[in-house]
Amino acid sequence: MELGLVTLLRAAWVAAILPVVIALIPSSKISFFLQFVLGFAKRGKIMQSSSNKFSVPQKLFIHFYILASVWTTLLLVATWIYAYSTMPKISEPLLFSSIASHLTGGSRIFSLHSSHTSKEHRSRIAVSIFLLLLMEAQVLRRLFESIYVFKYSPSARMHILGYLTGLFFYTAAPISLCCNHAAEVYKFWLSLIQEFIVKGKDRMLATEVDWWRFLNPLIQLRWYSWIGAAIFFWGWIHQQRCHTILGSLRENREDNDEYVVPHGDWFQYVSSPHYLAEIVVYSGFVVVSGCSDLTIWLLWGFTVANLVLAAAETHRWYLHKFDNYPRNRFAIFPFVY
Ligand SMILES: NC(=O)c1ccc[n+]([C@@H]2O[C@H](COP(=O)([O-])OP(=O)(O)OC[C@H]3O[C@@H](n4cnc5c(N)ncnc54)[C@H](OP(=O)(O)O)[C@@H]3O)[C@@H](O)[C@H]2O)c1
Repeated sequence: MELGLVTLLRAAWVAAILPVVIALIPSSKISFFLQFVLGFAKRGKIMQSSSNKFSVPQKLFIHFYILASVWTTLLLVATWIYAYSTMPKISEPLLFSSIASHLTGGSRIFSLHSSHTSKEHRSRIAVSIFLLLLMEAQVLRRLFESIYVFKYSPSARMHILGYLTGLFFYTAAPISLCCNHAAEVYKFWLSLIQEFIVKGKDRMLATEVDWWRFLNPLIQLRWYSWIGAAIFFWGWIHQQRCHTILGSLRENREDNDEYVVPHGDWFQYVSSPHYLAEIVVYSGFVVVSGCSDLTIWLLWGFTVANLVLAAAETHRWYLHKFDNYPRNRFAIFPFVY
């Protein structure tokens, strides 16, 4: 199942990246393909009101973050409790000790358990837990912003395929961060539930939780994971600032459907700094994982391709809409593009 899930996720990311990358090729021969992809990818101000067919309100973005918050929390809790429960005993009894003995009892599960408790393996699970923690910080903030910061105009829409892509993204992204251990975590919880059903609650409950051991995965992180976390929070903070600027643009204005030129923070350099900040956030994930996980690279690749496409259109839209638009601004990457 482990290999199957990883392969499936990688195939899904490649399938999602390819059309966007082809659309980004600057060739007049395939410009029709760019228009075709943009037909699905446009949203909000860059989506013409005439293309409202098969569209939904852009404020449904909130669905993405509700889904992502619940799903990420579930994966985080499941993986962290698994890591805690299968960590080698030091002096105190294990939480769910009966499950651990069950794991070490069955011949197939025993081989799993003994190999999985190696230091290297535990350190990789620690990275997954850390990535899920960071993802939680990202999606919870986005959920908050969708409710309290952004003021989506009633006319802002997105294509139904864009909406479905968003649901796909926030299902696939959190599991991509921990897919290498998903099978063993799943088996652990299945055994736990089976034992719970057979033995009942009274014989299952642990007496004490060792918080030091609980936090152990964070202590095991290598230096590059902390550098990745610093990159993540650099992007996180700037995205929060840029979203606050965007959310404030319509304050005290009667025409709350109107667009204005944003200023401040990374808006001084690029037209879509919130997209740039999102790319920095996902670059943080790549570095946390030690730049060695292909699934996370593909997740990053999709984010970059998708946001570069949207940023290019946004930049064109600003230049067309505002005569006095700052000419020194780039689309998404300062001094490059
Ligand atoms: N990881 C990914 O692949 C991915 C994909 C998509 C989005 N995202 C992230 O989600 C966040 C939101 O994306 P989005 O595409 O919804 O952003 P957006 O189109 O720029 O809209 C964000 C909010 O700001 C308002 N706004 C934008 N420009 C404005 C202007 N010039 N004047 C007044 N209001 C303005 C919009 O109003 P209207 O409602 O009127 O348009 C909307 O309420 C971004 O940070 C992005 O990085 C990530």
